[in-house]
Amino acid sequence: MIFHQITAGGCQSYLVGCEATLAAALIDPELGQLDRYRALVAQEGLHLRYVIDTHTHADHFSASKALAAAFAIPAVMFRTGAAPHATLRLDDGDMLIVGKLKLQALHTPGHTADSMCLVMADRVFTGDTLLIGGTGRTDLPSGDPDQLFDSLFGKLLALPPALLVFPAHDYKGRSHSTLAAEIAENPRLQKTERSAFIAMMRELNLAAPTHLTEALRTNMSGGKTVAQLLADAGAVVPFVAQAELARRLASRANDLIVLDVREESAFVAGHIPGAINLPRGQLELRVNAAFPDPSVRIVTVCEFGKISTLAAATLRELGFLRTAALEGGMTTWRDAGLPNEVP
Ligand SMILES: [Fe+2]
Repeated sequence: MIFHQITAGGCQSYLVGCEATLAAALIDPELGQLDRYRALVAQEGLHLRYVIDTHTHADHFSASKALAAAFAIPAVMFRTGAAPHATLRLDDGDMLIVGKLKLQALHTPGHTADSMCLVMADRVFTGDTLLIGGTGRTDLPSGDPDQLFDSLFGKLLALPPALLVFPAHDYKGRSHSTLAAEIAENPRLQKTERSAFIAMMRELNLAAPTHLTEALRTNMSGGKTVAQLLADAGAVVPFVAQAELARRLASRANDLIVLDVREESAFVAGHIPGAINLPRGQLELRVNAAFPDPSVRIVTVCEFGKISTLAAATLRELGFLRTAALEGGMTTWRDAGLPNEVP
């Protein structure tokens, strides 16, 4: 078997490939590692057949939608998963065939209602149902400690004890464990009595994951993260360096319009000399009156360089094809001591 464990900030994803056929599946991919997955698949000469989420993640952004589109393959989830882009939905016991490899879905609700483990001949991908020395939490949307108890003690732990355990998370740099080792040493699995287990899970009082709302929003809907939206805009917009803009403004042949898209109050408090203010929120509706000539050269500016990137992308989309965004924003402009017009 061709096997790669890809670790990124506590998130574990897995590329499993069949040596005989070079068919492969990718489990729990994370959006920040898109290039790495594509490179690994190419490096190993694999034909990616499935991209699988073990559950709806609440703490990181799934790359399943992007990878399913890029490779024209099914995004796989348990049948109750909310993500509309999951085109192959599994029932408990369903098996995916990847060349000579077989991955069987084991529905293990508890961490989330749509959690499943993926069982292979020698290993099990446990998602967040079972972690090394822990379990997934049960206090996030659709979590249920009562169900987790059944999934662990009634299903997962009944599998052959020699199975290797590969979880979706590990925060201590460990790669894997075995079911036998977890049964023997995992503190949470020592609570073998239902009410004691549920009480323990209820008393954990964990802080909410950093990107909870955004992760649930994007993973459940297939929508974009804010970082994706900014990256998409940045990919279709050229930038102007701050020193270059300062040099152009100082030269007499300057022909560009500096468009400050911050709110009026921020603009009034200080701006690049000669800049025009048209807040981002009013851009589409006021742009025709502001710039009757669509061939003008525009450089958008904001406080941090993010809204100006979005504004530049919008202007290009509207037909202002000579729009660029200032690299960075007024914060770095002022820090660099560049001309700032203050009333
Ligand atoms: Fe999770």
